[in-house]
Amino acid sequence: MRFAGKVALVTGAGRGIGFATANELARGGAELIINDMDGERLEAAASELRAHGVKVTTHAGSVTDIAFVETMTTHAVADHGKVDLLLNNVGGGPPMTPWAEFAASDLAHFRAIFEVNFFSQVLVLRALLPGMIKRGYGKIVCVSSMSAVLGQESGSAYASGKMALHGLVSSVSKEVARKGVNINAVVLGNPPHPSRTPDRQAYLDKLSHFARVGDLAEFGRAIAFLLSDDASYISGAAVPIDGGLLTPRLNE
Ligand SMILES: NC(=O)c1ccc[n+]([C@@H]2O[C@H](COP(=O)([O-])OP(=O)(O)OC[C@H]3O[C@@H](n4cnc5c(N)ncnc54)[C@H](O)[C@@H]3O)[C@@H](O)[C@H]2O)c1
Repeated sequence: MRFAGKVALVTGAGRGIGFATANELARGGAELIINDMDGERLEAAASELRAHGVKVTTHAGSVTDIAFVETMTTHAVADHGKVDLLLNNVGGGPPMTPWAEFAASDLAHFRAIFEVNFFSQVLVLRALLPGMIKRGYGKIVCVSSMSAVLGQESGSAYASGKMALHGLVSSVSKEVARKGVNINAVVLGNPPHPSRTPDRQAYLDKLSHFARVGDLAEFGRAIAFLLSDDASYISGAAVPIDGGLLTPRLNE
């Protein structure tokens, strides 16, 4: 059990990438603190995860809210004694954050997208990093997107909010790697998403070297690797998990 004795906090764990990774961590024996702003989804996820025989506590609320994040992290440490692993997963593009061309986007909308994709992760990182440094152990993954690297029409706020994470991760890594903490970003390409249209999915699948959408479990396993001791010499990186989409096929 590679995560036996470890405690992990996963944000946005009710479904998708967050749930898939939480599932992999639980399979490896980690205790879990899971968060989602959708309370029903969160409790359903917790029941599934407890089937692995691990302790799971839940915190329903938005990680864009500083007071909520402080309460969640204080309770997490009180309930579990420590937090070793953090998956800073919350973020999202449309429909949560509707597309808008930059010239037509209003500043409040742009800021709101940064709140979800960048500042939410800053808040959770700030709350948990000092404890990890103090104990000399931590593994952190922040979830980015291929949109950060490639850019995205009508998605400048999302792409730049995600790219800000890359600067955060590489900077913090230089400060904490010698204190026992690894921090990396994952650059996701073509995971499934319930809001994606079949046409859009077909287009993305064509760009993938594998000619298919990624399976959520494939993302979960790769992220869990970065949260494990097997990834002890990896830090400050932006690791693609993208089916090859960052180097798209140019010919049919
Ligand atoms: N699916 C994709 O196409 C894709 C591609 C690249 C990157 N990503 C990134 O992967 C991460 C996870 O995406 P996903 O595809 O699993 O999304 P998802 O919509 O399937 O799941 C996200 C979960 O997070 C929760 N959530 C959203 N905002 C929250 C908040 N403020 N506080 C707490 N919970 C919140 C939602 O309720 C939901 O359960 C995001 O950072 C996203 O930007 C996704």
